Amino acid sequence: MSILDYKSAIADILARTAEKEFSECTLSGDDILNMFEYPPDKQMGDLALPCFKMSRTLRCAPPVIAEKLAGGLCDCNLIKGFNATGGYLNIYMKPEYLTDTLLHEILEKGDDYGRTNEGEGKTVLFDYSSPNVAKPFHIGHLGTTVIGHSLKKLHEFAGYKCVGINHLGDWGTQFGKLIVAYRLWGNREAVEKGGIDELVALYVRFHKEAAKKPELEDEARAEFTALENGKEENVELWKWFIEISIEEYKKTYAQLGIEFDSYAGESFYSDKIAPVVEELKDKGLTVVDNGATMIPLEEYKMPPCLILKSDGSTLYAARDIAAALYRKKTYDFDKCVYVTSAGQSLHFAQWFRVVGLMGYEWYKDLVHVPYGTVSINGAKLATRSGNVILLKDLFALAVDKVKGIIDEKNPNLENKDEVACAVGVGAIVFHYLSNSRIKDINFMLEDALSFEGNTGPYAQYTYARCYSIIEKAGGVPESYAIPENADETVLELLKILSRFPEAVKDALDSYEPMTVTRYILDVCAAFNRFYHDCQILTDDKEVTDFRVSLTKSVATVLGNALELICMKKTPKI
Ligand code: ARG
Repeated sequence: MSILDYKSAIADILARTAEKEFSECTLSGDDILNMFEYPPDKQMGDLALPCFKMSRTLRCAPPVIAEKLAGGLCDCNLIKGFNATGGYLNIYMKPEYLTDTLLHEILEKGDDYGRTNEGEGKTVLFDYSSPNVAKPFHIGHLGTTVIGHSLKKLHEFAGYKCVGINHLGDWGTQFGKLIVAYRLWGNREAVEKGGIDELVALYVRFHKEAAKKPELEDEARAEFTALENGKEENVELWKWFIEISIEEYKKTYAQLGIEFDSYAGESFYSDKIAPVVEELKDKGLTVVDNGATMIPLEEYKMPPCLILKSDGSTLYAARDIAAALYRKKTYDFDKCVYVTSAGQSLHFAQWFRVVGLMGYEWYKDLVHVPYGTVSINGAKLATRSGNVILLKDLFALAVDKVKGIIDEKNPNLENKDEVACAVGVGAIVFHYLSNSRIKDINFMLEDALSFEGNTGPYAQYTYARCYSIIEKAGGVPESYAIPENADETVLELLKILSRFPEAVKDALDSYEPMTVTRYILDVCAAFNRFYHDCQILTDDKEVTDFRVSLTKSVATVLGNALELICMKKTPKI
């Protein structure tokens, strides 16, 4: 019986009691389930039902409601006890529920503990990461990449069929600029050797030179037009630039354990935009203002959605609408999730509305998940000057630091490089996902790379500690006897483990991976308290077997949770 089933069963009893006691009662078991809280102090119970909100509908004072509902629990054999105080109904769990039912469930389900089939038969698309080719893949992309991937993993964990799409910015005037810059100052070997850095350097140089020689901009526009018209040399260069870029992105993605199902970027939709623009016109949605085509959205308190520039070239929103229509046709999604910086919130609100105005009811299934800005050591990012911290450089810094620590503390560690990568990259990811996604973050490099306190390395180290204990014990015992008087820290730890499915659900409902990160820290804290208070390997086989089994269940939950936030499991550090 999972914690959700356990709580539902109690909630159902309370709902039936409420129905008997109050003639005005319309509370269902689910309503009550949603009202349960975890009291901050364990003296006040393991579960509490605040009776304040229902007071108005039930026309009764909260302490009286609590008292009456408590009556229903007298014969409930799921719980140890209860009391009604100050408008709360406090419930004490039966220790055997934790030490027996729950612990067995975690051990049995293993990697599947916390998994549900809520999303069975439903398809969700995730449009994330999506860097702009030839522009640096910088720390600002960390958000879309790791939030997007965590959300995908969370949905997979809940049984949804998920499709990850990297909507590469692989089309636009920057390719005209890059072609001009390459012909003027670049060469094949340099690009082959320097990869994307060389492309970015060329792009940056273009902007420097164009500031002095504005005619370069015209040349770039002409080269892009030639590319659009299919001029072979330009198309070849463009394809090559993209190939080189994807190859490098994939190195970063591999460090994060990310693979995409599709790299259909903006260029993929080039030929799909004209029919959409026609459709918008046919449906009478567009107006032309100063030669530009747009859709007025005054009625929805938004500025017009721009579709075509006065020279007829397509704009960002037009490409997104065409992509959404294509995706609906291709994948018949139940939800399409876009993860970008909050700076693009208006853009998404506008074109989602336009899809609605086109008469497509599924516009309601388009979800924008925004996140706050990232500055580093107090400085905002500037792309054009080239003055940015690249994601891969940040990862390299972290990995090097971990390598140094391993060389010092554990020089004989097997697969050193793999561990250094998992811990170093994990440190950055964990630090980033410890914050609410919408908050603007000032990323202090020193903090991100610190391994003290509530950090990723601490979480991975706790995970590894579990395995080293299990190894010392000679493995996980096949069975264990349920202790008659479990220690308080054991029960506290099990209670935290029981909350994993809820942490997952909360993260899903609010599109917020931070919930999982914070949960991981709760597990680590509870485990380390247990480790400190209770010797795990003792002379008493019965005690040892139970504690090692518990340790294994901690490793299971930590491992499952770490994977959900793009961290790799590290059984040995
Ligand atoms: N390439 C864009 C950028 O870097 C993000 C694309 C997001 N996805 C989308 N369908 N608009 O800002």
